[in-house]
Amino acid sequence: MIQLQENTSLKPFNSFGIHVLAKQFCTVSSLNEMQELLEWNKINNYPLLVLGGGSNLLFTKNYDGLVLQNLLKGISLEKEDESYYYVKAMAGENWHQLVTYCVHKQYQGIENMSLIPGNVGASPMQNIGAYGVEIKDVFESLEAIQISDGSIVTFNNTACKFGYRESIFKHELRNQFIILSVVLKLRKTPKYNTSYGNIEEELINMNVQEPNIQSISEAVIRIRQRKLPDPSKIGNAGSFFKNPIIPTALYNQLKKDYKDMPGFAVSATALTKVPAAWLIEQTGWKGFRTGDAGCYPLQPLVLVNYGTATGAEIYNLSTQIIEKVQASFRILLEREVNIY
Ligand code: EPU
Repeated sequence: MIQLQENTSLKPFNSFGIHVLAKQFCTVSSLNEMQELLEWNKINNYPLLVLGGGSNLLFTKNYDGLVLQNLLKGISLEKEDESYYYVKAMAGENWHQLVTYCVHKQYQGIENMSLIPGNVGASPMQNIGAYGVEIKDVFESLEAIQISDGSIVTFNNTACKFGYRESIFKHELRNQFIILSVVLKLRKTPKYNTSYGNIEEELINMNVQEPNIQSISEAVIRIRQRKLPDPSKIGNAGSFFKNPIIPTALYNQLKKDYKDMPGFAVSATALTKVPAAWLIEQTGWKGFRTGDAGCYPLQPLVLVNYGTATGAEIYNLSTQIIEKVQASFRILLEREVNIY
């Protein structure tokens, strides 16, 4: 049985800790409840927002619609073959709990994505990634319910059209499906990826000679805990901006003036990815704070709410950062976080 709540504060349900009201709010713990709620909304016709962990969005005003909190739970081994375990996780599971489960079971492939905030259902939406691995690298399929008619559709890896923090669900199919579950294809014979950033250095600090799933996960957790604010203590939604991808010609031109400007060639293209953190630091925003809205001192790509900032204040800060970076570097930063 679904139970709707009117004018509910969304503060506990978004990692920025922004207090706004949802006109209607409803938690959903089974497929039946999901269908019931969609039926109810066919009559009531509210704009629908599906909430996972609430860790990649910023509310700038009250939500004048229906917020559905997806609490579908369960993790199971769907099947296995000679080389892979196929693990199915329901959308309402916490992502890091899924990683922990796989680390303990020795299913290899997502340990580099340890401690990414948010729920499983949101993970394919924006093709989450960290430390050299993206979900698309291990993604087998997902099941989603079509909002218009309640039918359940399976999407394989190609059908999701994954890109850098992108999928079909942010574009052509935006607001048309609710993700119910995800199947990941995890290796039996490990193929570790420790080349990104300072994972190797961290493993040495930990006195690890032969890395394994557990120690890589541990290394990533240690690095993240040092650099990224814990949303339960300081409100934030991880990287607020995407790393911009610019023409390599522009990069080479800028490099003449900014000799230490980092850039990573995007293979098989004339494009270069530049760390937004560097651009933001160069333009003087690192550690900036106005009221309770700020740019995190240890990782400027992350905007934070030190307490009672409003979504509009954080949004305004992001606009100022975009304008300054644009004026200084002719590079347009794009927000990664969804704005409501
Ligand atoms: N940098 C600075 N100043 C800083 C921090 C970083 O200039 O204060 C520059 C350095 O050049 C550094 C580079 O930024 O080499 C890259 O930094 P880092 O490895 O910390 O990663 P990132 O590119 O800033 C991305 C993801 C993170 C993910 C990390 C690690 C995006 C938008 N962000 O950040 O994802 O954890 O790589 O893989 O792609 C998230 O999406 O919420 C998120 C945290």
